[in-house]
Amino acid sequence: MSREATNLLYLVTIVTFVLALRFLSNPATARRGNQIGAIGMLVAIVVTFAQNAVVSYWEIAVGMVIGGAFGAVAARKVRMTAMPQMVALFNGVGGGAAALISLAEFHNLAPDPGTLKTDISTSIMLSAIIGSISFAGSMIAFAKLQELIGGRPIVYPLQQVTNALLFAAVVAAGIAIAAGAEQQWLIWALVLGSLLFGVLFVLPIGGADMPVVISLLNAFTGLAAAATGFELENNVLIVSGMLVGASGTMLTILMGRAMNRSIANVLFGAFGQVAPSAAAAAAAGSSDGQVRSASAEDVAVMLAYAHKVVFVPGYGMAVAQAQHDVRALADLLESRGVEVSYAIHPVAGRMPGHMNVLLAEANVPYPQLKEMDDANNEFSRTDVVLVIGANDVVNPDARSNQGSPIYGMPILNVDQSQQVVVLKRSMNPGFAGIENPLFLNPKTVMLFGDAKESVEKLASSVKAV
Ligand code: TAP
Repeated sequence: MSREATNLLYLVTIVTFVLALRFLSNPATARRGNQIGAIGMLVAIVVTFAQNAVVSYWEIAVGMVIGGAFGAVAARKVRMTAMPQMVALFNGVGGGAAALISLAEFHNLAPDPGTLKTDISTSIMLSAIIGSISFAGSMIAFAKLQELIGGRPIVYPLQQVTNALLFAAVVAAGIAIAAGAEQQWLIWALVLGSLLFGVLFVLPIGGADMPVVISLLNAFTGLAAAATGFELENNVLIVSGMLVGASGTMLTILMGRAMNRSIANVLFGAFGQVAPSAAAAAAAGSSDGQVRSASAEDVAVMLAYAHKVVFVPGYGMAVAQAQHDVRALADLLESRGVEVSYAIHPVAGRMPGHMNVLLAEANVPYPQLKEMDDANNEFSRTDVVLVIGANDVVNPDARSNQGSPIYGMPILNVDQSQQVVVLKRSMNPGFAGIENPLFLNPKTVMLFGDAKESVEKLASSVKAV
């Protein structure tokens, strides 16, 4: 295929990737975005295959069959709640691939020291460093989320100093390579040092912060892929790597903002190791008041006679897979003339868009999904809020208790409604590991039990009202 035709088709691919991102930003068009992106990727692969540079089609085909089969089975089998670790795994192998390509290119292009052009050696060392960090960090993130290793931050004395020294050594090796010291052992040392740094960098970060870390490492993988694009002089790889880098960075920032935490605090704050004073302060704020529990029949009466009901889904709804039953209950209430909507906190659940995905799966109409600010404007005229397996995202301590570890995080102000019903199994805390005074608020009643079973009971009780 001529160079012009190749570049033209690569341009088409790039346009499809940009369009895919555009469509992915709205739940109503996300499926189409995914399809457009997949078509673009297919074009990119076919065009790359049509290059004379391909050494062995056979070996590539074997790799594609193994990888494709693994991806297809994983996409079908993995539960929605395990999606963050799958993203970590897939993201990690992307970074690892970029690092492996750098090793191979360095081996092929620099048989003798001093033979590489600086731009190529710089790209090689950048993709080797960033790709290796992303691979090793993502594997630790995967292991934490899969509970293969403990999710709590692993901290030890002089940790940040050790990490900083290791990173400085890796960068020094990279600069030496770019300056012409093209010894094979040096790139191996650089890759091993980067892998070790990836592990040590993620170990002190708590399991709960892993989605933010994965998003950041995803941006790293994009940058590593872009650097690989410079190495291989492949435009589509450069642009798509930059798109991943930019969108991963934006997502990381948005997640940090939604938790009211700086990225530095996520990366270096060892969140999840609640300081004794903060835990005591959080507990102190909630020592008075009483928990009131209600039966499904009591709650059904409240719901059936309400004018406006807002559902607030959280991580527990995902665990219980209660989204279809929630939709059925909402339909039932609507058929009785109740106005129904869903308040979506940006970090409810364990991954970006977690609640949107689940509710979309249950075919909840998109206009009923309210983002945090819109939802907060509506609570004061809401009769009943049904909190379904959410905890931290409705914790009023984030607003008023300066000693709380989540102080300052924007929350859904459900306590401004007339009545709050909380569906969860026990008084156990959520992700942040802290007490929630909402459960002791006189307006609140608890409906204990698995969210799916409780919502099913509510639906049958509403029918009986
Ligand atoms: P959480 O605060 O984690 O609370 C979830 C609650 O669900 C738990 O208290 C648990 O109580 C309940 N639950 C678990 N399984 C249940 C079941 N089968 N049936 C009923 N209830 C069940 O969840 P949230 O309010 O969605 O907040 C999310 C948290 O994750 C925030 O702190 C956020 O910062 C953090 N986080 C989110 C993200 C993203 S991107 N979403 C990223 C990083 C961190 P019981 O055990 O008593 O049932």
